[in-house]
Amino acid sequence: MSRVMIKNLGSFIGKKVKVSGWLYSRTSKGKLIFLLIRDGTALVQAIVSRQMLSEEQFNLADKLTQESSLELIGVVREDKRAVGGYEIEVESLRVFQICENYPISPKKHGVEFLLSLQHLWIRSQHISSVLKIRAEIISAARNFLNSRGFYQVDTPILTPFACEGTSTLFEVEYFGEPAYLAQSGQLYNEATCMALGKVYTFGPTFRAEKSRTRRHLMEFWMLEPEMAFVEQEENMVIQEELIYYIVSEVLRNCSNELAILKRDISLLKKVQTPFPRLTYSQVVEILREKGFDIKWGDDFGAPHETAISSLYEKPVFITHYPASIKAFYMQPDFNNPELALCADLIASEGYGEIIGGSQRIHDYDLLKKKITEHHLPIEAYQWYLDLRKYGSVPHSGFGLGLERTVCWICGLSHIRETIAFPRMLDKIYP
Ligand code: 4AD
Ligand code: MG
Repeated sequence: MSRVMIKNLGSFIGKKVKVSGWLYSRTSKGKLIFLLIRDGTALVQAIVSRQMLSEEQFNLADKLTQESSLELIGVVREDKRAVGGYEIEVESLRVFQICENYPISPKKHGVEFLLSLQHLWIRSQHISSVLKIRAEIISAARNFLNSRGFYQVDTPILTPFACEGTSTLFEVEYFGEPAYLAQSGQLYNEATCMALGKVYTFGPTFRAEKSRTRRHLMEFWMLEPEMAFVEQEENMVIQEELIYYIVSEVLRNCSNELAILKRDISLLKKVQTPFPRLTYSQVVEILREKGFDIKWGDDFGAPHETAISSLYEKPVFITHYPASIKAFYMQPDFNNPELALCADLIASEGYGEIIGGSQRIHDYDLLKKKITEHHLPIEAYQWYLDLRKYGSVPHSGFGLGLERTVCWICGLSHIRETIAFPRMLDKIYP
């Protein structure tokens, strides 16, 4: 008999099925034992009765502890009151292992304790729901880009130079030479988009961020589209359409997971395009009116982003930052070169920046000047300058931080819950 996943039991009412999983909880009531079983897709209640099973099998069922691994065969019944709407009348049972002393009990545990048991905590309803939504977000983002003619290209993790500034590089030794873990795949994608037109890379990126916040990881995943012939305005439209699509796919496909996380989905339903846009200068004005001590030229921090996001019920773009506080490759505003043709997308509900993007400099001389001004080693960027020598075109792109996006869509309080094994300032185990 082939195995049926619990989430699909609805198609097997009245039929005999095999289900494999782990025990979530057990309630014994004399002649009946109720086993709540999880298999990764969902939970189902299985009913073991003395009438249906041998004495030996019934006693075995009565010994099952939390996380014991098992397989059972039984008939599916519809029961509106049961978890998930179905239950299984067990006819036979096979136990792989009786789990002893599982360290995480249903009672509340402290965060430090759970983090030290991350390899087990991921089995919890909470974390596994987040991981499923994460998978949905990735799949939606890929579908969106693939259907619009983007090609996925994989860019290197080991790189000889910095993309986003030298302060947060992880250095490794590359056969006697220094190399760095990628902070972003962008610069390579500026090359691949000149080959393929529209591309994206999706992979892990690394930043030695010396900050212990709810928004920073040392290793996080970034989705980075890059488009030839696209200027900043069109770049922003693609971003808002992508975000709208991701949110609507999560609402459509992950209602159970959102319910487990107690996410207020009415807020997600308000994420409709177009998103509001404010310039950096407007934001500085607003913040000053709100009493923040900030002057033109300062970068924004988490409290500033939170204050701005509270003005709207949708994500908001902040555009035209001073070029001086942004990366070297950003195209200066053609009317005012003090400003960069860039935008950060700030999530709603105070979740902060989820996207950073810009138009890129396509003029050879200007880019060379910027590389020098930023004290970057020109030799390492020679190939990047080449792109401005051979058929240069205006082009733009952006980077969507996956974990920030998961954190926001799931309504979590800390980014460490968005990835199975978070890498944080003081934590690399397990
Ligand atoms: O704004 P950032 O630094 O942009 C870039 O890296 C560009 N090269 C992307 C591009 O245009 N192709 O990072 C992009 C996003 C941020 O908006 C944020 O969501 C996320 O990456 N991010 C982090 N997420 C978790 N932990 C960190 N330490 C992060 N740093 C950036
Ligand atoms: Mg940024």
